[in-house]
This record gives sequence, structure tokens and C-alpha cells, in this order.
Amino acid sequence: MNVMGYIASPRKNGNTAWTVNKILEGAQEHGAATEVWYAGELDIRPCQACMGCVKSDRCVLNDDMQKLYAALKQADALVLGAPLYMGQMSAQAKAFTDRLSAQISPRFSPRFKEENAGKKLILAFTQGNPDAGKFQTYYDYTKQMFQLLEFDVKDLLVVAGTRSDSASEQDGLDVRMKTAGSTLVSE
Ligand SMILES: Cc1cc2nc3c(=O)[nH]c(=O)nc-3n(C[C@H](O)[C@H](O)[C@H](O)COP(=O)(O)O)c2cc1C
Repeated sequence: MNVMGYIASPRKNGNTAWTVNKILEGAQEHGAATEVWYAGELDIRPCQACMGCVKSDRCVLNDDMQKLYAALKQADALVLGAPLYMGQMSAQAKAFTDRLSAQISPRFSPRFKEENAGKKLILAFTQGNPDAGKFQTYYDYTKQMFQLLEFDVKDLLVVAGTRSDSASEQDGLDVRMKTAGSTLVSE
């Protein structure tokens, strides 16, 4: 199984990076091949709504998203990690998500093109607020949105309270994230 991680935080050594890498570690320990992409190292422009992808079947923006489209094609599963900014996914995560529309069928039905349908997905959010349930409505909505895009959402993980205790310092989180990664492979 190929598992691709996308870290939609500008901080390469931040909480989101730690979380996604632990999930990938768990997947690796169960035999998966993994690769990780850092938003901070990539140039991913927002969707221009030019509808070029409807005509040509390809996004016309020649930026690093082209590498991610290729990686996504090879991947059986995606781990999308995002910090919560103002109660929503970071702009880096939103740009990536919007650009996925180039891989949706031309009539903008929720049907993903064949090679993408049914890909497994783990959504991992990190947030400063210590109450993991504080933004549940938004997390549930986001999960449903990815289900509509025909991802097979396997897990929705929330790492809370990162302002006072960084993810790497939180008791038991290491095991919880690695278990999510191994379960992704085994289920
Ligand atoms: C611009 C900005 C907005 C944020 N908004 C929220 C928020 O609405 N709720 C929250 O709990 N934490 C919020 N945070 C805190 C981050 O979600 C949290 O620190 C996260 O773990 C950062 O991830 P990173 O270490 O990967 O950068 C915000 C941080 C920034 C920089």
C-alpha cells in the first residue's frame, strides 16, 4: 500500500508535521510505502476557476500541485494534516483541497475520476484550544465534504491543546497516531 502525507502547515517541525509523520510511521511499520509533502516547501496556488480542467482534463496551473496530482494517483491512501486557523483548515489545506477539483468529473458531480475513487483518507487536525470537541461541527462537516468527494474517510483525528503542550509532549499521542496509521493499512 502507498500512503501519501500532506502537511498543510507552514511549520516543518510543528505539531501537524509531528502528527502526520507519526501516522505514517505506524503505516510503515505495517508494510506501507510512505511519502510526505510539506506545504511550506511547495508552491501551490489557489484555484483560478478557469475551468481549464473541464476542457483539458488537467489543471493548467504549472506549480507544485502537479507533483501532488501525480503522487495522489499512485497513492492508496492520503493523510491530510492541517492546523486549525480561525476555526477552519489552514489556507494551505484549502488551496490543496480546492485544487482537487481538477480531478473531479467535468460536470462537477461529486464523482471522482476512476483512479481516485475510494482512496482511503485520514484527516488530522491540530488546534491550540485544549477542548478537542470545540470545533466538532466544522470537523464533521469537513469529513462529510471529503466523503462527498468519494474518499473513504477512515479516521478523523484531533490533536488539541498544542499551545500549552506540543503534540510530541502529550501523553499517549505517539501510540494513538501510530495505531491510526497501522489501522489504515490493515483495514
Ligand atoms: C493564524 C492562526 C489561527 C489559529 N486559529 C486557531 C483557532 O481558531 N482555534 C484553535 O484552537 N487554534 C488556533 N490556532 C492554533 C493552531 O491551530 C495550533 O497551534 C496548531 O497546532 C499549529 O500547528 P503547527 O504547529 O503545525 O503549525 C491558530 C494559529 C494560527 C497561526
